[in-house]
Amino acid sequence: MSLSIESSDPAALLQFYIDCGADEAMGDVALDRTKLSDKVALFTQPGQGAKPALAPTSMPGPGAADTAPLGTIESLSDARALAAEAKTIEALKAALESFRGLSLKRTATQIVFSDGNPAARIMLVGEAPGADEDRLGRPFVGVSGQLLDRMLGSIGLSRESNIYISNVINWRPPGNRSPSEAEIALSLPFIQRHIELVNPAVLIFAGGVAAKALMNTSVGITRLRGKWAEHTSDGLKKPIPALPIFHPAYLLRSPQEKRLAWADLLKLKARLKELGIL
Ligand code: URA
Repeated sequence: MSLSIESSDPAALLQFYIDCGADEAMGDVALDRTKLSDKVALFTQPGQGAKPALAPTSMPGPGAADTAPLGTIESLSDARALAAEAKTIEALKAALESFRGLSLKRTATQIVFSDGNPAARIMLVGEAPGADEDRLGRPFVGVSGQLLDRMLGSIGLSRESNIYISNVINWRPPGNRSPSEAEIALSLPFIQRHIELVNPAVLIFAGGVAAKALMNTSVGITRLRGKWAEHTSDGLKKPIPALPIFHPAYLLRSPQEKRLAWADLLKLKARLKELGIL
């Protein structure tokens, strides 16, 4: 890699960025971070008492007509209202598609909403779509999805018959970056409503993002995994037993942890048997 870059040569500068690994746009708007201090939209989770900090409605963005409520308190209340109004899974998908508060949809190819059997009694919630999911419009279809299918298959679960799958975030974050706190907060009303509409007997939270967001905790997945919790939300008649497990992408990076993941799957299987689901 050559370090002699002429600032007057944009192609060389671009090549330098690519050589450094910066080969994908991470956001849809170029931000001057030196001027952001008083403008950053910080969201906290609903129910935690703290209010989301205001982002100005005049936050710059292309296609202003489509982006007015981006990253604002209005978009959080819009998200809650839109999600609450949805009476069916199809209506919820349409509500998400019409929601203008999340900029991820502008960089993603398409919405990645769900897969599997919506009448299933088991629902798994992951983090966010990656490149393969973005291309095919279905959650967990890349390499981590293939591992997930094998994990589920090992205890008799499959999308074709007895499990339904979705994510906290329904559009791929650019460059597969982690979703921001604000993106998670804006997506939370939709996944909570999604769970209410499916009303499964058992929930599985795959990975720390899903577990923390849906359990409203900052405790890490290493401590949460393998311990049954109860998921509640306003629209649920009764709490749903929920089991956090390691995310399959983490298991691909840390195969030594598969031992613990297997123990968690056995725990899940035992509970499903108790409930007469398996
Ligand atoms: N990882 C997730 O959390 N969800 C997907 O859909 C794909 C990968």
